[in-house]
Amino acid sequence: MSSSNYVPKIVLFSGSKRTGSINQNLVNAMAHLFKEAGAKPVKISLADYDMPIFCEDWESENGVPKTTKSLVRKLKNADGVFIASPEYNGCMPALLKNTIDWSSRTGSDHFKMPVYGIGSATPGALSGIMVLRQLHFILCRLGATVVNAHLGAGGANALFDKKGRFVEGRTKQLAQTLVSQMMDEITRRQ
Ligand SMILES: Cc1cc2nc3c(=O)[nH]c(=O)nc-3n(C[C@H](O)[C@H](O)[C@H](O)COP(=O)(O)O)c2cc1C
Repeated sequence: MSSSNYVPKIVLFSGSKRTGSINQNLVNAMAHLFKEAGAKPVKISLADYDMPIFCEDWESENGVPKTTKSLVRKLKNADGVFIASPEYNGCMPALLKNTIDWSSRTGSDHFKMPVYGIGSATPGALSGIMVLRQLHFILCRLGATVVNAHLGAGGANALFDKKGRFVEGRTKQLAQTLVSQMMDEITRRQ
C-alpha cells in the first residue's frame, strides 16, 4: 500500500511471560514510541501462544500447534515486529527459541514480510548483548530484515517512569533511533 496516511501495524512481544518482566516493560515503552511515531502498536504475549517443546515425533503425530499458526498469522500481517528478549546464561530463553523453531515449520513469510527490531532488557549493565547477537543471527538466517539499532537496555529497573514510558537518556535515544529505522524501512517498502 502506498499512502502517506497509511498507519503501519507493529506487533510487539517479550521473550518472557514472567509477571513483572522487565522485557515486557521494554515492550510497553516501545509501544508508546511507535504510537508517537504514527504507527499502531499491537502488543501480544507469548503466554497466549503456548506450544510444547519442539519434537519432530510430536509434530508427526499432531502437526503444527494451532497457537503457532495463530502467532504466525499475526506476524505475517504486521508491517513491523519488535521482540524484547531476556538473556539466560548468555543465550535466548527456551521460550523464545521454541517459538521461533515451531514457527519456522510453517514457512518463512512471517520472517521475510515484516521489518524486525530487537531489544533486550537486563537488570545488569551489560544489556543482553549476547542474546541480541543470537536473535539477530537467527532472524537473519530465517530471512528477516533486522534494523541495525539493537536496543540494549541495561540497568532496566531505572529506565521507565510510572506511566511505563522511557525516562530521558541514552536508552530512550537508541530506542527512538530503532523506531525511526523501522518506520523508514516500512515506508521504503510501500
Ligand atoms: C536462568 C537465568 C539465567 C540468567 N542469565 C543472565 C545472563 O546471562 N545475562 C544477564 O544479563 N542476565 C541474566 N539473568 C538475569 C535476567 O536478565 C533477569 O532475570 C531478567 O529480569 C529476566 O528478564 P524478564 O524480567 O523479562 O523476565 C538470568 C536469569 C535467569 C533466571
